[in-house]
Amino acid sequence: MSTVSFEHIGKSYGDVRVIKDFDLKIKDGDFVSFLGPSGCGKTTCLRMVAGLETNSEGRLLIGDTVVNDPAQNINLAPEKRQVGMVFQSYAVWPHMNVFENVAYPLRVAKVAVSEVNDRVAAILKVVELSGLEKRMPNMLSGGQQQRVALARGLVAQPKVLLLDEPLSNLDAKLREKMRVDIRQIQQQFKITCIYVTHDQIEAFTMSDQIVILNKGDVVQSGTPGEIRSKPANDFVADFIR
Ligand SMILES: Nc1ncnc2c1ncn2[C@@H]1O[C@H](COP(=O)(O)OP(=O)(O)OP(=O)(O)O)[C@@H](O)[C@H]1O
Ligand SMILES: [Mg+2]
Repeated sequence: MSTVSFEHIGKSYGDVRVIKDFDLKIKDGDFVSFLGPSGCGKTTCLRMVAGLETNSEGRLLIGDTVVNDPAQNINLAPEKRQVGMVFQSYAVWPHMNVFENVAYPLRVAKVAVSEVNDRVAAILKVVELSGLEKRMPNMLSGGQQQRVALARGLVAQPKVLLLDEPLSNLDAKLREKMRVDIRQIQQQFKITCIYVTHDQIEAFTMSDQIVILNKGDVVQSGTPGEIRSKPANDFVADFIR
């Protein structure tokens, strides 16, 4: 686990500034949810932490390591950041079976074959998919595919786990179960999580901290209780109503 520090981050695509002076420190082992209207920059922030986008201004740190700072020409490669990411719409690879999907990050990291086998077996047990190693994704339910994606995000024992609307494709009942499961796994591994969701109940029930974003900026961050009882302004009050 690790802290994540956004220090006055800005991000532009061409002339369009989508993240503006984004300043936020995420504590070690916290479960933090990003909430905000469509297009406010939630996915962009996750992609910057993962190293899939570079910030145009400011510094981004994971623990004490500066992973991105354009002023110093620092941009650590995604595979060196020890970050796991679970994308919206599962993004499991259709041509790989469950085992190979989950093993992929370890293969990229050139982990020894015997260790790959052990680690994949262990994480599949955690997400309750043992026995389905040889199944192809099209032979799995939506919830099972989501668990494959989760296992793949966790298998390399990342310091930080990023989840971008991971439950949006699941039905209500399964979503509820997966919320509990994700939170349990997060606490078991003591992993710092950044969770993006449109579902306020999800954010308010799962999180240690909630960050409300609007137009590429942090409008308020606090515990679910603080946000509920003391919304910082009309935007937040209206948004969480
Ligand atoms: N590659 C890109 N090129 C240009 N603009 C982009 C690109 N990616 C994202 N944007 C713009 O950046 C802004 C933030 O996008 P982002 O995907 O981070 O939003 P979001 O908060 O995740 O929204 P949603 O809730 O709809 O997923 C949007 O205005 C979007 O159009
Ligand atoms: Mg998004």
